[in-house]
Amino acid sequence: MEKTDIRQIVDIVREAGTLMDRTGGFEVHDKGARENLVTSSDLAVQHFLTERLGALLPGSGFLCEEEDFADTAHDDVWIIDPIDGTANYARGNENCCISVALVRGGEPSIGVVYSPWRNEVYTAERGRGAFCNGKPIHVSDRSYERGLLFTAMATYHKDLARICGDIIHDIYMDCSDFRRTGSAAIELCLMAAGFAELYFEMRLLPWDYAAASLILTEAGGAICDYSGAFPSLFKPSMVLAANTRPHCERLLETVRKHLSGLPY
Ligand code: IPD
Ligand code: CA
Ligand code: CA
Repeated sequence: MEKTDIRQIVDIVREAGTLMDRTGGFEVHDKGARENLVTSSDLAVQHFLTERLGALLPGSGFLCEEEDFADTAHDDVWIIDPIDGTANYARGNENCCISVALVRGGEPSIGVVYSPWRNEVYTAERGRGAFCNGKPIHVSDRSYERGLLFTAMATYHKDLARICGDIIHDIYMDCSDFRRTGSAAIELCLMAAGFAELYFEMRLLPWDYAAASLILTEAGGAICDYSGAFPSLFKPSMVLAANTRPHCERLLETVRKHLSGLPY
């Protein structure tokens, strides 16, 4: 792809951001559980992005969160979370974003995470570093013990909350403290920018982390699933991430003390 292409993607994602509305002018519905929301803005952003990104790269496929939109038998696949942090969005909270990854030959090659109300665009191209609003970003060099953990309780799977709690307890005892914004993509980007060091979520979907995983690794961080491999871009995954590979392995060690296998 030409170097200008990421700029074209950023322009399209920024334009999609104008469909997000901080005054609450949208409809909110449950997706089968009271904590799992979709708004009319999620759908509007997704429709806009699939149309414009499909036109930008003819022949590309899609994996999108809403409306079971999956057409992934292509070399180039866009993985899209139209709004990550929908529960925040529905309340006018700034911690929500659009997440777009371009996966080429099975690997993330471009990641864009745009948070309009935080006024942050995180970008990465494979091998070219990571940026926030055009400025290079890097993970911190803090130790595990001084690290901040981003985490959650398997948001849409409350049956997994107890085991998540046990794992989070053990990580918490070894590190400094924990945080939660309610947007996995923003949290992984904040790690990329050095604001936190550790990450554990029991079960995420590829659209939550596809773009931010590239931003994090291009910023020098590490990410893996329960097997220690890069999280799948096509099915649900545990996500462990850290500012260094050894920290990521230490998180995995703690997780494996509690789980002899993935519980889903
Ligand atoms: C959710 C957010 C949240 C994470 C959940 C995700 P959504 O995405 O990223 O931080 O804990 O697991 O599903 O539903 O707001 O797009
Ligand atoms: Ca999401
Ligand atoms: Ca979403």
